[in-house]
Amino acid sequence: MQHLLKSTTVVFCLLLSMTLQAQTKPAKTKPKPTGDPRIEKLLAKMTLEEKIGQMTLYTTDWESTGPTIRDGYKNDIRSGNCGALFNSHTVPFTRELQRIAVEETRLKIPLLFGYDVIHGYKTIFPIPLGEAASWDLDAIERSARIAATEAAASGLHWTFAPMVDIGRDPRWGRVMEGAGEDTYLGCRIAEARVRGFQGKGIGNTDAVIACVKHYAAYGAPIGGRDYNTVDMSERFFREYYLPPYKAAVQAGAMTVMASFNDYDGVPATGNKYLLQHILRDEWAFKGFVVTDYTGINEMVKHGVVPDDKAAGELAVQAGIDMDMQGAVYQRFLAQSVKEGKVKMAQIDEAVRRILALKFQLGLFEDPYKFSNAQRAQATILSPENRAAARDVARKSMVLLKNANQVLPLNKQQKIALIGPLAETKNDLIGNWSGAGSGADCVSLLEGLQNAGMKPVAVAKGCAIDSEDQSGFKAALDAAAQADVVVLAIGERADMSGEAASRAYITVPGAQEALLTALKATGKPVVVVLMNGRPLTIPNIDRQADAILETWWSGTEAGNAIADVLSGAYNPSGKLTMSFPRTTGQIPVYYNHKSAGRPFDPNSKWTTKYIDEANAPLYAFGYGLSYTSFKYGVPTASKTAFKKGESIVISVELTNTGNVDGEEVAQLYIHDLVGSVTRPVRELKAFQKVMLRKGETKTLTFTLSDKDFSFFKQNMKFGSEPGDFEITVGGNSDTDNVVRVSLK
Ligand code: NOJ
Repeated sequence: MQHLLKSTTVVFCLLLSMTLQAQTKPAKTKPKPTGDPRIEKLLAKMTLEEKIGQMTLYTTDWESTGPTIRDGYKNDIRSGNCGALFNSHTVPFTRELQRIAVEETRLKIPLLFGYDVIHGYKTIFPIPLGEAASWDLDAIERSARIAATEAAASGLHWTFAPMVDIGRDPRWGRVMEGAGEDTYLGCRIAEARVRGFQGKGIGNTDAVIACVKHYAAYGAPIGGRDYNTVDMSERFFREYYLPPYKAAVQAGAMTVMASFNDYDGVPATGNKYLLQHILRDEWAFKGFVVTDYTGINEMVKHGVVPDDKAAGELAVQAGIDMDMQGAVYQRFLAQSVKEGKVKMAQIDEAVRRILALKFQLGLFEDPYKFSNAQRAQATILSPENRAAARDVARKSMVLLKNANQVLPLNKQQKIALIGPLAETKNDLIGNWSGAGSGADCVSLLEGLQNAGMKPVAVAKGCAIDSEDQSGFKAALDAAAQADVVVLAIGERADMSGEAASRAYITVPGAQEALLTALKATGKPVVVVLMNGRPLTIPNIDRQADAILETWWSGTEAGNAIADVLSGAYNPSGKLTMSFPRTTGQIPVYYNHKSAGRPFDPNSKWTTKYIDEANAPLYAFGYGLSYTSFKYGVPTASKTAFKKGESIVISVELTNTGNVDGEEVAQLYIHDLVGSVTRPVRELKAFQKVMLRKGETKTLTFTLSDKDFSFFKQNMKFGSEPGDFEITVGGNSDTDNVVRVSLK
């Protein structure tokens, strides 16, 4: 499979950003009739309370991800106080609730059902950070497509995904839900996921509405602590954090979720600059905006409003159409309208947007069209879906170390399978695993058995997060019977994700000590990491013979890991987030600036730590293969080019090893002199290519001046004449350079 990202797509996010700086004053909300007579007719019949009901989203009693404020959601449906529900799925349950809405309410407006379908509904795919490491946009789109198909058949209309928050701080547990640290890659993956979820269009029974979240900059909480303050310059925001939301909107995402954090001192839920000025005026977003869970209420704690009622007024005026779980709109909005603090026109505008999607889904013609037992039966956990999950899972795995070619294992070797994650299933489907169940998951032990690599001995050794070493003896006994140890260690599924920030991002408990004990036996040790974020693993890197990063890789985890360990699949994943050596280096990311005193190992007075290197342990873009690749020196079709022209960068890539394999060739640029400081390196294109052993291919990348554009000193988006270094290689840390000039 091959991805060729042409110059037109390379600059997609950037092009769309060109108008961002144009306006400075938020425009007034101007409600306009939609032009859809069905909506206007319905709106004319609605009471204020019924309108507010459409702007209200409650969880059912099945699940919650925060405080549960309303329990009587069925009565809320009956009274028209609630037009949308989340955490309600499966055919019988959604049919039962929908029946209440369309049979027992005055206006018979169907409900909208939402859910966090993040990396699968029942067939669980690798966590998004893992999928991103595949650098395979087709596979990522397919994963979202399958998730949508299963979810839609189970009665769902709407997923709270994709999460596109740029993550540069691995302490923040939610990096597992995103695509990593890079903006360009983040944009491409955001688009792929939206395409996957929404398929051929909203209204098809295999598509769900995408919700891009968490708007905006939720990925940059200070200290990596979830829900914390975000503070950054406008330039930084627009250049690194904002583009993926825009890419998702431009790819057609019809809903947006406001984030919990503040931006420039104003909570996103009440932030007119974000919700009106950027989203509506600059990007012409036509869908609706939902809060995050009790996001309106939380503005009181943020300290920008005195009480819930004022919070509701701020939210609606800023552009929040739907209140998730906070019940603020339901409790106070009618009063605010009566007092003249909120205009009826603002309410109408929000209701129009919500009704428009319900019409587009086709729910007024057939409110049950998505809840279909036959379709659910045919698609959920089907062999094809499981095969796709296995394929994406193995593509997501990153080989971090492979000393003395200890991997792949051969089937004659006697394996001791050790570690607290050797047999678990619940952890392998990871956090945010939708309706997925550990019971459907293939454990690593089962995967090895299925591959004909049945371990001669299995031992847990220790728990995931306990210091107790009493299980070490059994582990050492197991190792004594084997030729090689496969050690499955990492994080429990609840150690990353929402509300799961960690100050120590180590492999917790006694797991590292277990490795040390096993290493002392002299047997080669292959570490299989299962985790939801980059971890600090210098000790593991020093001691393990091989390290395979498998993330939490989903329902087919065990089979997929066995595919890689056995060599049935040659690993091709590359990291999309740097692995720091220690938390003291955080944030560490590849596209940093040079600073006035760039790092020089021989000079004290340069930007550095006196007790640790600057570079991460494993850089963005890094990942090994069972074969080796050699890059030729890149060449440019011309040394100088003008605005409006394109330039072609070519490089020869050879598979110099003994097996076929895929390589992710990455192209980075460095703007040597700009009106503002520029990163030392920025990803601008990549291709994932398969090469047979011994094969050479010439790769070409077409770039235009748009690829060299940025927010100049005057905040205008564009390019500046000057010299650029272009690097093409297998990670972000190569020196394979060609120089070009933009005139
Ligand atoms: C809170 C999370 O921040 C958000 O991502 C999720 O969609 C909602 N809860 C609903 O579960």
